[in-house]
Amino acid sequence: MHPILIAPSILASDFAKLGDEVAAIDAGGADWIHLDVMDGHFVPNVTFGPPVVAALRGITKKLFDCHLMIEPVDLYLEAFAKAGADRLIVHAEATRHLDRSLQAVGALGKKAGVALNPATPPDAIAYVLDRVDLVLVMTVNPGFGGQAFIPATLAKIAAVKAMIGDRPIQIEVDGGITSETAPLVAKAGANALVAGSAVFGAGAAGYAGAISAIRKAAEGGRI
Ligand code: DX5
Ligand code: ZN
Repeated sequence: MHPILIAPSILASDFAKLGDEVAAIDAGGADWIHLDVMDGHFVPNVTFGPPVVAALRGITKKLFDCHLMIEPVDLYLEAFAKAGADRLIVHAEATRHLDRSLQAVGALGKKAGVALNPATPPDAIAYVLDRVDLVLVMTVNPGFGGQAFIPATLAKIAAVKAMIGDRPIQIEVDGGITSETAPLVAKAGANALVAGSAVFGAGAAGYAGAISAIRKAAEGGRI
């Protein structure tokens, strides 16, 4: 079984001191750094691109989990790879040729993840599982931090878990993850938990405590 991993999303951090924020969650026990890239087209919000990822690369050695909410996506994969992303997560809904996009990530030497919006059925990824190391089941509609967890996604996490079978693929969840929802997603089969507001809302002195509380809650959900 994959260990429970916590990936704070810097979307909820103070962008005026982004480098310090990344250093603080690194010191606070983050397993991965989750980077939310938004284009104002695939999702109704705009964040940052490869130069910001490159600027942060010098701050931490932790895995950069790069969640690409952009359409088209193929055109930008190389730039994010060169900027220092370790995993490139592509939305099934954001590319016409999902298999090709995931092959392209692999050809760049990066880990490939595939993401599903709440309304997208798990069948959408049935034939690309051998190209990914992670499936991201969105537990809110992508675009903003601080939204409420969507309970219907729990059944989808379980369905993805069953589809994965023996493959060494991790299941990540993103959106509305707190100490309350963490046990539910872990019980359903998720092992990697993205958390934005639940970590950064705790204030710099509380990052380590928040990360460990979510981790413990998720571990508790597995028992
Ligand atoms: C939403 C992003 C999330 C977001 C989660 O589109 O993909 O990573 O930062 O934020 P919270 O944890 O506040 O729901
Ligand atoms: Zn995300």
